[in-house]
Amino acid sequence: MLFLFERQTENSPVNATNVAAAPRTLLPLIQYPRVQFDFGAIGTLPAELAVLRAVRPLFVTDQGLVACGVFDTVRAAMPSGAELAVFDRIPENPTVQGVEQALEVYRERRCDAVVAVGGGSVIDSCKAISVMATHPGRVGEYLGRAEKITPDVAPLIAVPTTSGTGSEVSRGAGIHPTSSSRGGSLGSPFIVPKTAICDPDLTLTLPPLLTAATGMDALSHAVEGLLAKTVNPVGDAIAVDAITRVCDWLPKAVRDGADREARWHMMMASMEAMLVSKGLGAAHALANTFGDQGLHHGTLVTLALPPVLRGLDAHAGERIRRLADAMRLGTGRHPGAAIAEMNQALGLPADLRSYGYKLADLDEAAADAHASWFNRSAPYHPTKDEFKTMITEIIG
Ligand SMILES: [Fe+2]
Repeated sequence: MLFLFERQTENSPVNATNVAAAPRTLLPLIQYPRVQFDFGAIGTLPAELAVLRAVRPLFVTDQGLVACGVFDTVRAAMPSGAELAVFDRIPENPTVQGVEQALEVYRERRCDAVVAVGGGSVIDSCKAISVMATHPGRVGEYLGRAEKITPDVAPLIAVPTTSGTGSEVSRGAGIHPTSSSRGGSLGSPFIVPKTAICDPDLTLTLPPLLTAATGMDALSHAVEGLLAKTVNPVGDAIAVDAITRVCDWLPKAVRDGADREARWHMMMASMEAMLVSKGLGAAHALANTFGDQGLHHGTLVTLALPPVLRGLDAHAGERIRRLADAMRLGTGRHPGAAIAEMNQALGLPADLRSYGYKLADLDEAAADAHASWFNRSAPYHPTKDEFKTMITEIIG
């Protein structure tokens, strides 16, 4: 389903009351794949493959999901005796090498669809696989080149096993040229998975720290989406619901991973946060800058949120207040401070230094964050000096 909404341009003022005066363009902002969502939804996989007329899908996953038995649950949903084509070596962060290795199997087995079973790394890798299965050249040639991606991509079914990235409904994918380099991005409406099968039971074994980090990533998508200057009241309403849901349920999911109700709400919040589709902001710019040492994206982004949110008081105060309402904060409590407290309560590191990040060059890092594409939708584009101050604080 495609909704058309109007978008403020980059330089127009950020004020919900002056919409009529703002120059606008038409932009498709919300694009839903077909979604099967509930406990046991994985049982719909054979029927969903049939809807796509997929006969020989490539199942793509990672070693962790094989070891903990989640992939076996997915395998068991397929007809008994079916010999599946499987690639199970996607790395923790998505890389060009992982995509190319999986593509070899796709071609060898003459596959006609891709089933992504995993978190953001697996689903993002599969978006690249679905493009490269039908497009010429190498993956690197498509990073940042949306215009090169045609609708002719291999059908992709996403089966998320974390509640964080929302990649199962998004039109973006981060791919790292190597495991120790910053990510490039693949973006196109044509890489939105054809189908998302969201089964909260598949997240029950996710360990507490990963539950916390991925859940805060979901929160960051909704927060930066709500704050984005793009005009889209539907997206704002979805963002508010996602934010409230994370604040209510993430602590419960971290405390007791077997709490199925908490897992259901977190999977819903994670999907909603990417359906907001208004763009992200400076916290994601910073997380991308810090993404060169193999550390988890969710932790990087939630450590960046407190200084970014404080810096927006002077530029998007009304939206910061709306965010505080969505988080149900009492009078005088700032969302930035509340997120820092949440990080601590959930057991996440207090700063990047204690997380193991080594900053090589402050000026270079600030310039990289300043140049990030994520700033385009932010309500305010921080200067390089402001990024330097924020980076110094986040490093600790
Ligand atoms: Fe993120």
